[in-house]
Amino acid sequence: MPFKKADFVTSAPSLDVCPDPYFPEICFAGRSNVGKSSLINALVDHKGLARTSNVPGKTQQMNYYQVNDKLFLVDLPGFGYAQVSKEERERWGRDIRDYLLERSTLRLVLHLVDIRHEPSDLDEEFFYWLGTNRLPFAVVLSKADKLSYNKQKQSEMRLKRILDEMNIEVPIVVSSTKDKKGIGEVKQLITE
Ligand code: GTP
Ligand code: MG
Repeated sequence: MPFKKADFVTSAPSLDVCPDPYFPEICFAGRSNVGKSSLINALVDHKGLARTSNVPGKTQQMNYYQVNDKLFLVDLPGFGYAQVSKEERERWGRDIRDYLLERSTLRLVLHLVDIRHEPSDLDEEFFYWLGTNRLPFAVVLSKADKLSYNKQKQSEMRLKRILDEMNIEVPIVVSSTKDKKGIGEVKQLITE
C-alpha cells in the first residue's frame, strides 16, 4: 500500500486529549534525536511533514498524522532528553505509559535505536516493559548510513542477543532515511 495522502491531525500531550480512536495506529518511540520524525517523513515521502531537528527534544507532544484516511502514525516525544526537569521527565513517562497501555487502537510500537550506539539502559527497560505488557513492537536500528555494512550487522546481532536474553522475539529493521534503506520493510510491518 503506498502511503499517499498524509496530513497532520493534532498534537496531544496525553491520552485524554488524543483524537477519537477511529483508525488503527502505529507509534514511534525512542531516545531524542534517533530519527523518529524523519522516519515518519520517509514513510509518507514528505520531508517537511513531521518537524525534525539536529537538536534533541524537538518533538514535545504526541503528534498525530493521518495516512490514506485509514491509519494514524503517532510521533512520540523522545525520552532521555536531558534539557527537561526530573518532574517533566517523570510526567512524560507516566503519560506515555498510560497511552501505550490504554490506547485501544494501538497496533504496533516502532522503537528506534541509533545503530551506532549500544541500546541504553532506558532502551532496555523499555523493551522489557513492552514485552512484559505484551505490546506488539519492532525495533528499528536507525541511521544505518553512518556505519559500514559489517558494523550494521554487528549492531543487529548485539541487539538480537539483548532481546534473546529477555526472551523477546520481535522484528528488527535496519534503516536509513538518507538512503531509504529499510523503509519498505517498515511499511510492510505497518500494513501487516
Ligand atoms: P526528537 O523529536 O528530539 O525526539 O528527535 P527525533 O527522534 O524525532 O529525530 P529527528 O527525526 O528530528 O532526527 C534527528 C536528527 O537525525 C536530524 O538531524 C535528522 O536529519 C537526522 N537523521 C534522521 N534519520 C537519519 C538517517 O537515517 N541518517 C542520518 N545520517 N541522519 C538522520
Ligand atoms: Mg521528533
